Amino acid sequence: MNQEKEIVFAAKLLEQGEVVAIPTETVYGLAGNAFNESAVQKIFDIKNRPSSNPLIVHIESVEALEQIAKEIPVIALSLAKVFWPGPLTLVLKKKSLVSDLVTAGQDTVAVRVPNHPVTLKLLKMLSFPLAAPSANPFGYISPTTAAHVKSMLHDKVPFVLNGGSCDKGIESTIIGFENNKPVLLRKGAIEQEAIEKISGPLEVYQATDKVRVPGMLKIHYAPYTPLFISDNIPEALSPLRFKRVGLLLFTNKFSGEKVAVKKVLSVSGSMEQAAQNLYAYLHELDGMNLDLILTEPFPDSGLGKAMNDRLRRASSNKNITEYYYKSSN
Ligand code: TXA
Ligand code: MG
Repeated sequence: MNQEKEIVFAAKLLEQGEVVAIPTETVYGLAGNAFNESAVQKIFDIKNRPSSNPLIVHIESVEALEQIAKEIPVIALSLAKVFWPGPLTLVLKKKSLVSDLVTAGQDTVAVRVPNHPVTLKLLKMLSFPLAAPSANPFGYISPTTAAHVKSMLHDKVPFVLNGGSCDKGIESTIIGFENNKPVLLRKGAIEQEAIEKISGPLEVYQATDKVRVPGMLKIHYAPYTPLFISDNIPEALSPLRFKRVGLLLFTNKFSGEKVAVKKVLSVSGSMEQAAQNLYAYLHELDGMNLDLILTEPFPDSGLGKAMNDRLRRASSNKNITEYYYKSSN
């Protein structure tokens, strides 16, 4: 099938209430008709996702926003006009057409216009928006290629619409509103600083805040292989010489280390390139039968903040020395 035919085929399945994996500029999504409860239920079932964790609704344009959201704050509309299509998700008051299953019973809905030509074409063919979380089993690493989706969900998804590798490689930035004031709910592919140029200063959501952000779980985006973060790789490596270690480095500062494999996210130190590679390298390392993955924190600015957030959630949360002694006894 050529790509045009594949898009038509995906549209047919979605119209029949089926789910289809779709490419976006951030990560692949597992999509279904946002107005069809049984289609949405299939998404939760396939992902094994708790129903308390709401989904993002994907629409084709800023104009389509009125279909699903109401009482849209002025700042939200300005942000939408600047960043859509693109990796910005807005959490807004929902209209009744959106299934409660999508929003986990909340009166708000998360919505964005994805910036991917294939999925934009698909959305324009459809008469309904697409609810789509990332197309990975709940808690696991998000997919950035069609092959990732197939290897994780092979027999569960009737069709994966292939749109190549995701350009951004990391999930959208999520902005919600508290008394019309913008709150950064999830760090993501658009830097906080870029959003603040339009919105003014953002409050940053903390897990202890009263704002409810289901899905922002402590352990998430995690490989099966234990992952540790260290800002001193040589020191962290020294007690590990009999272990099969995979190193995941930002730039190539460490050489000559005796490790099973070393992956460098961006030799030139580009955060954009590192984000593009991050999940793909984690998928690859997780498939290598390693004892552990050792990684380093990114500089804490711009995209580095979002990537540090993902690494922290992916990490085993254990002290590496403790882990080493426990597993060698
Ligand atoms: O880049 C992305 O955002 C990708 C692509 C596929 O669009 N999607 C994605 O979806 O990352 P997912 O399900 O992995 O994350 C959606 C998150 C939820 O975990 C939750 O934190 C937040 O969006 N969310 C959804 N609805 C919400 C709501 N009504 N209020 C607060 N947070 C919400
Ligand atoms: Mg996800």
